This record gives sequence, structure tokens and C-alpha cells, in this order.
Amino acid sequence: MRQQIDSIKQKALESLSAVTDTDVLKELETKILGRKGELSGVLRNLKSLSESERKEIGTYANSLKKEIIDAFEAKKQSFGRQDAVTASPIELTWPGTQLDLGHLHPITRFVREVEDIFTSMGFEIVEGPEVEIPKYNFDLLNIPKDHPARDAWDTYYIEKGLLLRTHTSPVQLRAMEKRKPPVRLIAPGRVFRHEATDAGHETTFYQCEGLVIDKCITVANLIGTLEQFLQAVFGKKVKIRVRPEFYPFVEPGMDVDMQCLICNGAGCSVCKQRGWLEMLGSGMVHPKVLKNMGVDPKEYSGFAFGLGIDRLMMLRHGVNDIRISYRGDLKFLEQF
Ligand code: FA5
Repeated sequence: MRQQIDSIKQKALESLSAVTDTDVLKELETKILGRKGELSGVLRNLKSLSESERKEIGTYANSLKKEIIDAFEAKKQSFGRQDAVTASPIELTWPGTQLDLGHLHPITRFVREVEDIFTSMGFEIVEGPEVEIPKYNFDLLNIPKDHPARDAWDTYYIEKGLLLRTHTSPVQLRAMEKRKPPVRLIAPGRVFRHEATDAGHETTFYQCEGLVIDKCITVANLIGTLEQFLQAVFGKKVKIRVRPEFYPFVEPGMDVDMQCLICNGAGCSVCKQRGWLEMLGSGMVHPKVLKNMGVDPKEYSGFAFGLGIDRLMMLRHGVNDIRISYRGDLKFLEQF
């Protein structure tokens, strides 16, 4: 009878190790440990033995039965998680619904990229207010009250002598209140102009001001800096041209145009059929403005530039209308 019990245990453990699902486990448990199971069948025969044999074999059989029960319990526990999954009315393994995630606006991303390029070139980033006073937006920039340049940027005047800044140049003056040369800084930000919009003009757009003041700064430093910057933005050499332009706060002043990458110079609505797009205004900081900054023009010189972030971003991504950026059109925004 010992042998019979041993063989039941051995068979039970072997079968148990091969079981992979709970239904088969239950069947096996009934087959071996159930009331009409194999083990109970053998134990029922105990009564045919002598009292001493019954005691000895009974004790032995009970210890093996316990081992078999423990082995079944261990197997059930290993299936515990799977049971929970099967019992749950929710299919936990089913892939969830993908949620739509928003992202930063393409202009915000581009401003950050511009900042990264300039910081890698040793520039500091500074900020200034969007609501300005005429002192910074015009006066200290050598633009007197009756100067026609005040009309050039159709200014939004708001109450109590305040205005929405028409360019980022006022930040040059604000930054220099707390700094001494040498300085190398950029000031990206939003600017506002009351003007008719078209594919290349918006009433609200981004500029990035640049200011470098040190000893012996020349136009060559300005052009070299701008070329290096544009090459980093477009990942290749781009065609630029420099032409003289008047800005009261620089002397000499110049505009930098870039060949239109949308039409490759052939002419399109974005470049107004010119093949070239004006990207930025720039020049050597006017001695009067240097003085307004508390800098001695005999000792120091500097260059400044104000580039149109939106125009640059349009060329980089082949966007043919500046106004689309601010429409909140998901079909446009989701492409970035
Ligand atoms: C200025 O705003 C000067 N403050 C730039 C400057 C700074 C000159 C420092 C010298 C020294 P301007 O008005 O040209 O200049 O504007 C600069 C750039 O902003 C333009 O070259 C163009 O790229 C962009 N820009 C101008 N107007 C608009 C507009 N309405 N919409 C989109 N971009 C514009």
C-alpha cells in the first residue's frame, strides 16, 4: 500500500508541474484528492489492515497527502494573478485608447531653437516688457518725437502714455542699465504693429534682438555672426545679401535679406515676387545710443540686429503664409 501511495504522489507532482491553466488544475485536484479520487480510494482500504499497520500506513499516507495538498496550493497561488485577470470583467491586456497629447507651438519651439544656437555662440538671453514706454521704444534709441521713424512702425498706443512695443530694440537699453561692456546678448519676444496683414506680415509677431558691445567690434563681426547663425538654422550655407538701410539707432544700418527658400529665388507670394526676403535689420550701434547706454563710444563699439523669427521659421519649414501660425488650425499645428 505504501508503494501505491508513493506512486500516487509521484504521478500527482509530475502532472502538476505540467499544468498550465486553472481548469486543468481543478480537474487534477478532484482526480487525486477528491472524495472519489485516487488517494481516497487507497485510503479507504486502510480498514482491511491490522491495527498496527493501519496506524503506521495511516500516518505515512497523511503526511504524503499533506505534501500533495501543499503542492496544489503552491500551484494555485502561482495562478492567482491569472485568476484575477480572468475573473475581472475588464480585459486588462487590451491596449488602451491613445490620448491626443498637445505640444508647444511651432513658434515657441523655434524661439527656443534660436536661443540654443545663440547661447552656444556665447550669447546671454534677456527679456523685456511687451508693454513699453516711449522712452525705451523710441527716445533712447535716437528717435526724436517728431521723427518720421515713429510712424514707420504703426504703434498701438494704450492708456497713460503706454504702448505695445513695436520692436525688441528697447530691450537693448533696458539690459544695458544693469550691464557694462563687454556684452553679448539676445532678447527674443513678441512685438506689435498696427499694419495691414499679408502672407509675410502680421500685426503680432516675434523678433529676436541681438546686441554685442566690446572693443574693436566691426561690421565683419556682425556679418560673420549672422552667417554662422543662419547656417545653424538651415543646416547648410544659405544665400544672404546685405543692403544699406536707415535705422536711427545704428550707423551704418543695413538689412539682411535671404534668398527665398520657398521659390528658390524665382519669386512667389511670400517674397512678393522678389526672390529675396528681408530677415532682419542691423547695424553698428549709433554713438548716441551707446552714450544713452552709459558706454563710451570712443572706447567701445558694438553691433545690433533685430531678426524676424516668424519669417525665419516660415522659410525653415516651407510655410507660405505667416498668418496661418496664429490661427490655431490643428491641421497646421499637428504637422510639427
Ligand atoms: C526693426 O524692428 C529694428 N528694430 C531692427 C533693428 C535692430 C535694426 C537693431 C537695427 C539694429 P524692422 O521693422 O525692419 O526693424 O523689423 C525687423 C524684422 O522683423 C524684419 O526684417 C522682418 O523679418 C520682421 N518683420 C517686420 N515686420 C513684420 C511683420 N509685420 N510681420 C512679420 N515679421 C515682420
